[in-house]
Amino acid sequence: MQRSTSPISDGTTSGWLLELELTGVARGRQAEQLADLLRRAVRTGRLPAGTRLPASRTLAGDLAVSRGVVVRAYEQLAAEGYLSPRLGSGTVVADVPGAPAAPVRHHHRPPTNPGLPSGGTFPRAAWARCAGRAFSRLTDADFGYGDPAGWPPLREELSRYLGRVRAVLAPPERIVVVNGFGQSTRLVADVLRQGDTHRIAVEDPGSIGMRQQFERAGVRCVGVPVDADGIRVDALDAAGVRAVVVTPAHQFPTGVVASAERRHALLDWARRTGSVVVEDDYDAEYRYDRTPVGALQGLGPDVVVYGGSVSKTLAPGLRLGWLVTPEHLAETFTEAKYSADLARGVLDQATMAEFLASGEMDRHIRRMAAEYRRRRDRLVDAVATAFPGWTVSGSAAGLHLLLHPPTEDTEALSAVAQECGLDARPLSRYSIEPGCPPGLVVGYGHQRPDTIAAGVMQLHRRLTARR
Ligand SMILES: Cc1ncc(COP(=O)(O)O)c(C=O)c1O
Repeated sequence: MQRSTSPISDGTTSGWLLELELTGVARGRQAEQLADLLRRAVRTGRLPAGTRLPASRTLAGDLAVSRGVVVRAYEQLAAEGYLSPRLGSGTVVADVPGAPAAPVRHHHRPPTNPGLPSGGTFPRAAWARCAGRAFSRLTDADFGYGDPAGWPPLREELSRYLGRVRAVLAPPERIVVVNGFGQSTRLVADVLRQGDTHRIAVEDPGSIGMRQQFERAGVRCVGVPVDADGIRVDALDAAGVRAVVVTPAHQFPTGVVASAERRHALLDWARRTGSVVVEDDYDAEYRYDRTPVGALQGLGPDVVVYGGSVSKTLAPGLRLGWLVTPEHLAETFTEAKYSADLARGVLDQATMAEFLASGEMDRHIRRMAAEYRRRRDRLVDAVATAFPGWTVSGSAAGLHLLLHPPTEDTEALSAVAQECGLDARPLSRYSIEPGCPPGLVVGYGHQRPDTIAAGVMQLHRRLTARR
């Protein structure tokens, strides 16, 4: 008797059925054995209710039996109530009492954070146009395994863009295209461990997700306090680390912009101690009261590993970002990216290259800067009206701000604020050392101005009613 394990590819449940085998059975009993296998698969839940089975001809071909064998097996199981033949849509597994339900799929809850940009203003039409043009220009060779460092024309566009907009010294051969800063974190951890570095200084307060990424990758995070000028470089010596990650453009979550003096002190520290500075160029493009400050990397391309992404400017769902590494680390980071997932997909890379080259990125950022500024102003005005005793801190930039209410219980306050539709989280959640001042980190980028104002008014009513 022939066995078959070839895939069934008619777009139905082929994957499930790969494991069906008719072995050592006399020709006359094949239908019975197939029915038996299918019955067991339904009873054990391997084929849950609603699963569409392959057409009898397809399954027969795959199992190398005559079509009549499959038809008889299907008919038998339909008579027993295991399968329901549906006119026009084939044979479907019936809802059998006692059979385990389909395995529950555990969808990982997507991370949320107050730095979420507006999904509703994603430039769909422009992106689609760029995707169309990019697709038609791809060569046959582009559909092969790509350069692990990224699609070369995108790296050239990024080189120009980062130099022009962020004053980053970014020769294409030092750029590695990644899946957002999240992946950059992972690659930095890999490279640090290779160099026998197992600790990294992080800003306190700072991003929780990033700390988790480092810790999961085997690199311990050491909190270093942030003040009104940025990370406290004097505390780095005491931390005894050889690497630090910072958000100088718009510190998350305090909103502080690192001062020129602090930037120089940080680079001096890195050069003096042979350390590396990882620059998370977070929220860098959106500055509402002045032109954005250039990236730290421009002052120290020899010691800074620069990371950026489109997660704030365009959408985190694109999972598209880049690293610019010091010259001597370019190969190591490219290897790390290759080990992680070979390379990033070419279609998005080509679309992004077109988006940059055609000026759409600049247009989008200009449009969104005006919109986010409106949202921020609306939030600040509403808070000033409803809560004159509260203060706002952090620069006028990015997608979130920090409020200082005169209460210690910011957990309870943020719960009420969330019920009022505001994206508000206690500052204390982002802190490593206890004792940070009471604060609420409020994201405004992903909410309409009217929704923000209505949320603040509702919060005012709720808090007044409690008194
Ligand atoms: C501090 C910080 N840096 C960077 C990012 C962007 O990460 P990614 O590019 O992986 O979306 C985030 C995401 O919110 C963040 O909180």
